[in-house]
Amino acid sequence: MFKIIIKEKYEDLGVEANLLIRDLLQKKEDAVIGLATGSSPLGLYKAMIDDCQNKLTSYQKVVTFNLDEYIGLPIEHPESYRSFMERNLFCGLDLDPDNIHLPFAKDAEDEEACLTYEELIRRYNIDLQVLGIGTNGHIGFNEPKTSFDSPTHIMELTKRTRLDNQRFFDSLDDVPTHAITMGIATIMKAKKHVLLANGVNKAQAIYDMINGPISDEVPASILQKHPDVVVILDKEAAGKL
Ligand code: F6R
Repeated sequence: MFKIIIKEKYEDLGVEANLLIRDLLQKKEDAVIGLATGSSPLGLYKAMIDDCQNKLTSYQKVVTFNLDEYIGLPIEHPESYRSFMERNLFCGLDLDPDNIHLPFAKDAEDEEACLTYEELIRRYNIDLQVLGIGTNGHIGFNEPKTSFDSPTHIMELTKRTRLDNQRFFDSLDDVPTHAITMGIATIMKAKKHVLLANGVNKAQAIYDMINGPISDEVPASILQKHPDVVVILDKEAAGKL
């Protein structure tokens, strides 16, 4: 079930989403939070850091799981999702480093890494998962046609996703071709989702997620079956609703 919140501008999305995190942490100081990378959650991460530094929240007992990680980039590469998270969130929170989890696969055949990550997530239970959405409707790096039953797995990225992410690299050739990602089944097990989207280039994917048929052509459409999804949009991303 979707609760849709439309805000005037990008900065408001993070503030709104942060209220949900604050609320969760007030009820459960050892909450398990799923995290995303990319541009959509940056405002949220800034708001989380502000709250933590102003002692409104504490992450000392919080456990985090990231959705995905590129394959083929060393962890210390500035565009690895580990580096992204360090730079944009972890550096400003009082998290215990042992409670931070990101998947990591050494190559596109590393099934062991998928099993290990899936197993670890199962031992916890994600209370709140932060999501963005791809222009092709992907969640995590679950590209169109991914099985709704998929656990953590390795995905070959579509040309469209690689083009969308090219802005972070010098050229398309530098954008990794594969990633390890929580599967759709993994994502659906989270108790609550907060999906953030901004900009006109997300409007069609948002429309299809909410109003389209549930189809593996639009992986995010499976969220229609989840009981608790808060969708926070700016006016442009909500433009087709
Ligand atoms: C990132 C992720 C992706 C992004 C999506 C949107 O961890 O899982 O699904 O959320 O590609 O990316 P941005 O926010 O950069 O538009």
